[in-house]
Amino acid sequence: MNAPTELQQFLAAQEKKTLLRFLTCGSVDDGKSTLIGRLLYDTKLLFEDTLASLEKDSKKFGTTGEDIDFALLVDGLEAEREQGITIDVAYRFFATDKRKFIVADTPGHEQYTRNMATGASNSELAVILIDARKGVLVQTRRHAYICALLGIRHVVLAVNKIDLVDYAQQVFDKIVAEFRDFSAALGFVSEIAIPLSARFGVNVMAKSSQTPWYEGPSLLEHLELVDVDAALADKPFRLPVQWVNRPNLDFRGFSGTIAGGRIRAGDSVVVAKSGKASKVARIESHDGDLPEAVAGDAVTLTLADEVDISRGDVLAAPGVRPAVSDQFAAHLLWMAEEELLPGRQYLLKLGSATVPASVSELKHKVDVNTLEHLAGKTLALNEVGYCNFALSQPLAFDPYRENRDTGGFILIDRFTNATVAAGMIDFSLMRATNVHWQALDVNKAARAAQKGQKPVILWFTGLSGSGKSTIANLVEKKLVAEGKHTYLLDGDNVRHGLNKDLGFTDADRVENIRRVGEVAKLFVDAGIIVLTAFISPFRSERRMVRELVAKAEFIEIFVDTPLEICMQRDPKGLYEKAKAGAIKNFTGISSPYELPEQAELIIHTVKAEPKHHAQAVVNYLRDKGYLI
Ligand code: ADX
Repeated sequence: MNAPTELQQFLAAQEKKTLLRFLTCGSVDDGKSTLIGRLLYDTKLLFEDTLASLEKDSKKFGTTGEDIDFALLVDGLEAEREQGITIDVAYRFFATDKRKFIVADTPGHEQYTRNMATGASNSELAVILIDARKGVLVQTRRHAYICALLGIRHVVLAVNKIDLVDYAQQVFDKIVAEFRDFSAALGFVSEIAIPLSARFGVNVMAKSSQTPWYEGPSLLEHLELVDVDAALADKPFRLPVQWVNRPNLDFRGFSGTIAGGRIRAGDSVVVAKSGKASKVARIESHDGDLPEAVAGDAVTLTLADEVDISRGDVLAAPGVRPAVSDQFAAHLLWMAEEELLPGRQYLLKLGSATVPASVSELKHKVDVNTLEHLAGKTLALNEVGYCNFALSQPLAFDPYRENRDTGGFILIDRFTNATVAAGMIDFSLMRATNVHWQALDVNKAARAAQKGQKPVILWFTGLSGSGKSTIANLVEKKLVAEGKHTYLLDGDNVRHGLNKDLGFTDADRVENIRRVGEVAKLFVDAGIIVLTAFISPFRSERRMVRELVAKAEFIEIFVDTPLEICMQRDPKGLYEKAKAGAIKNFTGISSPYELPEQAELIIHTVKAEPKHHAQAVVNYLRDKGYLI
């Protein structure tokens, strides 16, 4: 009856062991599955015996053992599910008496780059497989680059199938030299090359006599001993506040998982964004109060002073604070079928904060196979780019290379809620920090009162030839006749000046509407009734303009003319050309139009004359009190 003690000893031992999360990169042909299979098989035996007894006794002694290990096994997957990515990454667990391991197994081909990135983002080490007969391939470089990009600092170059090249040292040395040639630029902290035969177990578990010339450790020996986690707890203290815990008036705790460093009761902390300082009164955890907590611990801190802190704030070490900015440069790995559109607003989720943000500039794309920089206007699925970001409000963050938790983010599509990209912050852009809003004495209200009207944007949207410009033009005439102050921004006209550098790709249309939105906003500030006539085919950008101004200042008018009618009218002969293939990306033919979902007014042009519709718009404005 000493099973419980043994079991408890086993569980205690498991808990004390450090955990190494690693990733394997390579394809089936390189012997990846064989290698993983061998690691699992050769190490699992001991573990499974114990597991069996664990299962048997689980009723009696609880399932702590399973909880510890299997929770770890699936948590990566859960995080993905939360983020709406369904990505095929298999996480496998094994253990030796020295360490526990979680290995992320991801497909190696280029179309699975995002899967690999997902596996890499929570791994500390990568085993990059090479077939000794083939040597360093383009995909080897890609794997190494993606690992480095996702913050992996330790690599093992596993030169596999060494048996098939007669255990030749020259072959091995040549491959290693070639790999080091480009990996030098990737900044790995530890890099070791091991000649292997996964099939015959050469240098996998133990050193083999087949490679007497090889002086390093076996793969497993290295995995058991490599020192990867000194870093996080030694970094500056960071606690992204997940929620503010206030069960009663006397208690206000700030909960989250420590993302860097350590904290003791009595330590000083600051709120990164506001700079407000206080001292830690208590550190609470599941197991009661703690004298100290380190990176990875989930805690609730109470502070000595009443400080204004909310979800999304970061508590930090006063001496080494994170950057706080609404602009930064970052690498972006695009993960969606729909391509990135610079200028479009996405939700950026960084730690516990989520804010609207857009790519203000795509500086360059990176060819993940050659590491070359390429010019580009968008990113497609699995492409990597280096971008400047503009956020709708400042956030606290660190460069990704310093802290993956406070420097890594995801982008979420605002309509589908899908995760579309993973980002790694490089540095804060301070460009705009010395520009302050200038308070002016004459304001919007004064300008509007002088003109006897309420400023507003009348946003006409619809297909080319639907009648937007015609109706907008008539509305403006009527308003001016009543002494109102107006301005009409028309697509074709604006494209002769302000937007003459833009064409009709999705990216250019996004930028077209972004600029027009900003201009319309200025006109509203000037107290003017602005009319705009743009196809504005995308919901995201129409919503973006709507959100630029106050609620009552945006009226979306959908000029709902069916495509067939627009094609019959074809006032500029453009549909004819588009059908013949002479115009690319033509809305309705070869480029989409997303129907408005929240238009204030819908105009069916086939049912009546333009002047009738124009009168209806003016009546609407009068009814709603815009024309004082
Ligand atoms: S938007 O999509 O970016 O909002 P915008 O309203 O500025 O388009 O410009 C549309 C006008 O440009 C059309 O009315 C038409 O006269 C002209 N045009 C030229 N090429 C295209 C195209 N490929 N797709 C749509 N309109 C085009």
